[in-house]
Amino acid sequence: MSLVIKKPSSSQIYSFFISLSDTALYNFSIYPRANRKSVALRLSKALPKDKFQKIFGAFYMGKMVGYSFLKFSPKSTDKNICQFGIVIGESYQGKGYGDVLSKKTIDWAKNNKFKKIWLTVYSDNLGAIKLYKKIGFQTEGIFMYNWYSHGKFRHTISMALFFDKEPSLERKRLWGNLSKMQDHR
Ligand SMILES: CC(C)(COP(=O)(O)OP(=O)(O)OC[C@H]1O[C@@H](n2cnc3c(N)ncnc32)[C@H](O)[C@@H]1OP(=O)(O)O)[C@@H](O)C(=O)NCCC(=O)NCCS
Repeated sequence: MSLVIKKPSSSQIYSFFISLSDTALYNFSIYPRANRKSVALRLSKALPKDKFQKIFGAFYMGKMVGYSFLKFSPKSTDKNICQFGIVIGESYQGKGYGDVLSKKTIDWAKNNKFKKIWLTVYSDNLGAIKLYKKIGFQTEGIFMYNWYSHGKFRHTISMALFFDKEPSLERKRLWGNLSKMQDHR
């Protein structure tokens, strides 16, 4: 039976986040100090009504096994870009569900005229980085020691997927200019 991708209800979001492992929540959550219950409550109450987020649930045999989102900005300057995030329940990882859910989420963004999807991922989350590279995300930058939680600092990698641009040459030119400036210090 294949994966069904659809908008989850509040109670499905709540049950999914309540059942997530600490590791999955730790890598996904933007609320590092919150406990599982408060994250589940916050997401299940706010998200289904949030007009600046499109959310997707991945269901296997009727059970929600994954969740992804696209977050938009109300600013007109940001109208072409959106932020992406994903989490698959730990016992369902490694079965290709992350790949399917990511691609469906990205297809939605592409079909809705977005030009760029960006995300952030911790530098030690190698499985996620591998997934993102596999589906076409490029590294945009590394933010050093910018996240402190659970007693340690983590670096954050910013990645992006472009639908109608190939930024490699322009990026190389900018990095070249910057390193020349540093040489003159
Ligand atoms: C990252 C995550 C979404 C991947 O989902 P998944 O369903 O396990 O991934 P898939 O089985 O679809 O794998 C797709 C690809 O991702 C990569 N990948 C995923 N997990 C990996 C791991 N643990 N180690 C190495 N590569 C991995 C591989 O390239 C894989 O393709 P391949 O099997 O052809 O090599 C999932 O592990 C997860 O939810 N983690 C916790 C939350 C999280 O880290 N979210 C991302 C926050 S930025």
